[in-house]
Order: sequence, then C-alpha cells, then structure tokens
Amino acid sequence: MFPLVARGKAIAHWLAALALLLAIAAGCGSASSPEVGLGPDGTPDPVMVAGRSVYIDRCSSCHDGDGSGTGNGPRLNQGRLVEAYPDLADAAAVVADGKDRMPAFGGLLSAGEIDAVLRYINEVL
Ligand code: HEC
Repeated sequence: MFPLVARGKAIAHWLAALALLLAIAAGCGSASSPEVGLGPDGTPDPVMVAGRSVYIDRCSSCHDGDGSGTGNGPRLNQGRLVEAYPDLADAAAVVADGKDRMPAFGGLLSAGEIDAVLRYINEVL
C-alpha cells in the first residue's frame, strides 16, 4: 500500500515539475500573435487569417508576435501603424521597398499579401 502511494506522489511531483517547465518555456521569447476574431458569419476573415500567417513568418521576429516591437523593429500595434500611415498605400510602400534597417519585401510578398498583413496589424494587433 505505502509504496504505491509513494510512487503516486513521485509521479505527481514529476508532473508538477514538468508543468512548471512548460509554463516557463511558454513564457519565454516572443509574444504570440493573436488569432483573427470571428466575423458576423461566424468565421474569421480569410484575408486577415492569411495576413496573420505572413505576419508570424515574416514580421514577428523583429516587430514581436503582438506587434509591440523588439530591439530590431519598432512597435506597430494598438493603432501605432495607422497613426504613422493613415493611408495604407504608404505603409505598403515601406513594406515593399524597405526603410533603413527594415528589409524590402516586394520580391517576397505579393501586393495582396502585403495588404493582408497590414490589415491584420491594424485590425487585430
Ligand atoms: C529584420 C527586421 C525586420 C523585419 C523582419 C520586419 N521589419 Fe518592419 N521594420 C524594421 C525596422 C528596423 C523598422 C524601422 C525602420 C526605420 O524607420 O528606421 C521597421 C519599420 C516598419 C514599418 C514602418 C514603421 C514606421 O513607423 O515608419 C512598417 C509598416 C513595418 N516595419 C512593417 C513590417 C512588416 C509588415 C513586416 C513583415 C512583412 C516587417 N516590418 C518585417 C525591421 C523589420
């Protein structure tokens, strides 16, 4: 009886340690990019879903997952982008052509992908 209880406790401790490690790992590094919310028809806007995946793949390393910025790129979230570029076409030109340390994405992303990622930044982040 006793050894079984002891083994159970050991497993419980081991699981607790594992859960703690996972929690630490999840908290490290960059913030995650929020999902696109559901539209009136109960599904997320597919353009913004595509924009989110472009953002995660191409932008989050420098601007952080939630757009709050890193040492390598400025903050873009919470209205910061639309404040700096009220006309989306001007922001699209920066993304396509680059700006100082900001790389040019014109050769990598289509105009549609650039518009989609900018919409994701403006409307979700
Ligand atoms: C290698 C790092 C890096 C990556 C990757 C990157 N950026 Fe940037 N980004 C920067 C830096 C640095 C700046 C600041 C440029 C400056 O004004 O000197 C910047 C600026 C910008 C600006 C202009 C902000 C302003 O206030 O003028 C926009 C818009 C932008 N980035 C969008 C994006 C998007 C969208 C992506 C992904 C497609 C992306 N960036 C990927 C580094 C990066």
